[in-house]
Amino acid sequence: MPTFQTVRGMRDLLGEEAVAFTFIISKARETASLYGYKEVITPVVEPLELLSAKSGEEIRQRMFIFKDLGERSVALRPEFTASIARLTTTALKNEPKPLRLFSVGSVYRYDEPQRGRYREFWQSNFELMGSSKPEADAEIILLTNSLMQNLGLQGYTFKIGHIGVIRGILSQEGVDEKTQNAVLQRMDKKEYDEAFRLVQSEKARIMLQGLLTLKGSSPQETVEKIGAYVADYPKAKGAAENLNEVLRLVTESGCPVEFVEPAFARGLEYYTGVIFEVYIHELDIALGGGGRYDKLIEVFGGDPTPAVGCAHGIDRIALALQTQKTALATKQEKKVAVLPITEALRVEALKIAQQFRAAGVTVEFEVMGRKMAKALEDADKRKMDYAVIVGERELKEGAVVVKDLASREQSTVPIQKLLEKIKS
Ligand code: HAM
Repeated sequence: MPTFQTVRGMRDLLGEEAVAFTFIISKARETASLYGYKEVITPVVEPLELLSAKSGEEIRQRMFIFKDLGERSVALRPEFTASIARLTTTALKNEPKPLRLFSVGSVYRYDEPQRGRYREFWQSNFELMGSSKPEADAEIILLTNSLMQNLGLQGYTFKIGHIGVIRGILSQEGVDEKTQNAVLQRMDKKEYDEAFRLVQSEKARIMLQGLLTLKGSSPQETVEKIGAYVADYPKAKGAAENLNEVLRLVTESGCPVEFVEPAFARGLEYYTGVIFEVYIHELDIALGGGGRYDKLIEVFGGDPTPAVGCAHGIDRIALALQTQKTALATKQEKKVAVLPITEALRVEALKIAQQFRAAGVTVEFEVMGRKMAKALEDADKRKMDYAVIVGERELKEGAVVVKDLASREQSTVPIQKLLEKIKS
């Protein structure tokens, strides 16, 4: 038999990496709870039609698509937003607004694998449905800020923009929506020449080119410059004003926005308003991103519902924590090896192990039937804190031997006092 490897772009997460994932997920869940987001768990496999509606060409071309045995066209979810929008038009249709939903899990995209880019990766996802107010956009950015802060990341920063600036210019110059999408797709990849080549209107081309070089000495000044630049384009001007308001709300609430990018576009097609991404200086890939999408729920047959959301890339955050050598603030629980001296003492030893576990103490029971010296040597290697040695002589007196594996001290402890001793 050949030895098997994982499928290209998919990884096993072992040891420290698995610990980092669990840590990040627990912080995301904590953030969800702090901001009032209810967790929902949706299927990994969804109808192809749902996942491809409004996600955009870029995502559509990278989906893992197949027919199930019932000949249905399905795909592995490339993100959560479509599934959450589906929920909003079905099971959660009558929920009062605002509706705040949180999800975490694996998503799948046929991206070219490289550092921080995989075909199976994890996201923590937040969606806020029912508000078109700038406070809602601000909340999504602020909760991302809280998550980055609580994870212990240093010097992270936000890039922010508004898709309505580019769309406003293109619409007014008569560029149809399909072409707009294609232009934005290329602008997201910074392929500006190809993007502008798609625009027939010379005026629109010149306007977009101008956006690329527009820059103020601060994010606020950049937004003001955008507003002045698009003064003759009412929709684009409205977008700049909206961006200005969101920017003011988040920066005054202590969120580090490093730059406003006038020509900022994101890979997904459904955005209609403010968009953002978060970075650390050491890595040039986004740790998370999101934005406003006011039309998606209608596309899925729901009532018009404004919405804003974001997703954080857990694999990339793990990479960021590793790059910054961040110590993970995980709880250090005591770990105990329970070792019966003879086979005849297994039942008594198991009872003791179960008592520990019921009290929340981690126990690794001796399941290899090894001699005491070997079992102790192994407990050392596994960095256990204590070995609890269950022997006949001590047991007759209702006691066991406890060995502190760090100090090497050994004492006989009554079984009733065991927990007290280990937890002290
Ligand atoms: P996205 O920007 O496509 O947005 O993905 C969010 C995050 O997922 C990225 O910032 C990145 O950290 C991570 N990510 C994306 N692709 C990969 C990959 N191939 N390997 C590892 N990590 C990756 C969305 O998915 C939207 N659904 C966010 C959203 C929610 N917008 C509104 N609501």
